[in-house]
Amino acid sequence: IRRLIDEAPVHHVHYLPETDSTNEVALHRAGEVAADQSELVLTSRQLRGKGRGENRWHAGEGALTFSLITPRLSLPREQTPRISLTAGLAMCHAVEQFVGGGHPQLKWPNDVFLNGRKAAGILIESPGDSVDRFVIGIGLNVNNPLTDAPAEVRDLATSLSEAAGQSLPLTDVLIACLQQLDACLKLLLAGSEELARGWRSASLLDGRKVRLALPTEAIEGVCRGIGDDGALLIETPSGERACYGGVVERFE
Ligand code: BTN
Repeated sequence: IRRLIDEAPVHHVHYLPETDSTNEVALHRAGEVAADQSELVLTSRQLRGKGRGENRWHAGEGALTFSLITPRLSLPREQTPRISLTAGLAMCHAVEQFVGGGHPQLKWPNDVFLNGRKAAGILIESPGDSVDRFVIGIGLNVNNPLTDAPAEVRDLATSLSEAAGQSLPLTDVLIACLQQLDACLKLLLAGSEELARGWRSASLLDGRKVRLALPTEAIEGVCRGIGDDGALLIETPSGERACYGGVVERFE
């Protein structure tokens, strides 16, 4: 914790040895954090991690589970879809530092894949009715043995230690994640085009057949990449669609 306070680009650290969900804690604490400050909510044991949609996030011992309460971000509303990709790209950059030559990929909007399997998931929420403050929740498999994971995720998941062939210093990995999140959020606020270049080159789904589930329909077609505004571009028999929400249910 001392190292985090000294070395990580966050203003406050709230550590809990165990908790149900760091995102839930962060959503409750956000109102107490000054508008221009950030807070890291960190736990060693998350008991009921939330995933996107109805999913749960399982994290065994040796995983990283944390939520970053961002400072207020003054972003035009139409740019908020870019926050997911920005966080995902930041995590790709952080992961890359520890997997010696491995090339992490970004599955739109923000899953991090290594060698075709998921290494990190991100859940972004907004506290209360706030429109400019975000809780970026991250679950990253680092040293946790995946044999502990439920059967349905075991074969689809990987970890940094599996990719690196050795166990990794958890605090160093966390600091790298926080540094990359800070750097990428600054690029987002500055309107830098570097971000869109980054997520385009890291994109996992390009050229693949995908099925995207939206609240009222499902879109199937071939992924033609990620637009500058963060949309997933899907070529369907009736033309190209730019999609801003939904869940990629399937890709081949
Ligand atoms: C997903 O892939 O569906 C997103 C998973 C997000 C999991 C993280 S772990 C830390 C934070 N707290 C939660 O309850 N969920 C996120």
